[in-house]
Amino acid sequence: MSVKQRQLVIAGNWKMHKTRPEARELAGAVRDALETERDLPAVVLCPSFTSLEPVLQVCVNSPLAVGAQNMDHRDSGAYTGEISPPMLLELGVKYVIIGHSERRQFFGETNATVNLKLKAAVRHGLIPIVCVGETVDERENHLTDAVVSRQTAAALDDLDAAQLSGLIVAYEPVWAIGTGKVCEAVEANRVAAVIRSTIGNLYANRDLAASIPVLYGGSVKASNIDEQLAQPELDGALVGGASLNAEEFVAIIRSAQKKVQPAAAKS
Ligand code: 13P
Repeated sequence: MSVKQRQLVIAGNWKMHKTRPEARELAGAVRDALETERDLPAVVLCPSFTSLEPVLQVCVNSPLAVGAQNMDHRDSGAYTGEISPPMLLELGVKYVIIGHSERRQFFGETNATVNLKLKAAVRHGLIPIVCVGETVDERENHLTDAVVSRQTAAALDDLDAAQLSGLIVAYEPVWAIGTGKVCEAVEANRVAAVIRSTIGNLYANRDLAASIPVLYGGSVKASNIDEQLAQPELDGALVGGASLNAEEFVAIIRSAQKKVQPAAAKS
């Protein structure tokens, strides 16, 4: 399967930024720029929990979808401060970022909790964007492939092949996040291939692995997205800082739009 047959995805992870009025304004600016466009990549806005509802309202009847940045894996219960998959679904959220390195680094998430959350997303029909990526120490110690393979395999533990339809993986090297040090595109492409071969080996199914979109994340900007999108193993981007500026984010989306196969040409 060629890259053209996988869905291209541009997701904006707003992290802990934007109040509700600010979120409404940012989502509105992205929507206004894109609402009459055709042949867009999948565009996903991931605001904070408090801004999900206003952003969903802005995105109704538009090409934009909305994702959460995290969730608990349980449906309900005495878990103070947590948000459950049914709560997200009830709002109209379609995507959820799982296992972002900031969740792993600052909030104690592990490969095991990522696996529980991925299973919960699958169970509830939320589209998971599972993040994997190595730290700078791991890269310097030549552990990138081992770390990324282990994170991928652990995330998928106990899931069968049929449950992977809809899965999106984001390769986000931790050293590239928020640093301005974008991973060289050829290297990001190589690691994306490692992720795919890990999945292909786990399920003894290369077609399955070839069907899963792999995004790149880490200091993506309008000025460097084209190189990433030119890589055969990469299918879009998970964008942090640059997604907080409508003009910059729309420019990234337009770069991806150039790679989208027009609907009429799809078989
Ligand atoms: P930056 O684009 O700000 O480096 O963040 C990337 C990221 O963590 C997206 O999830």
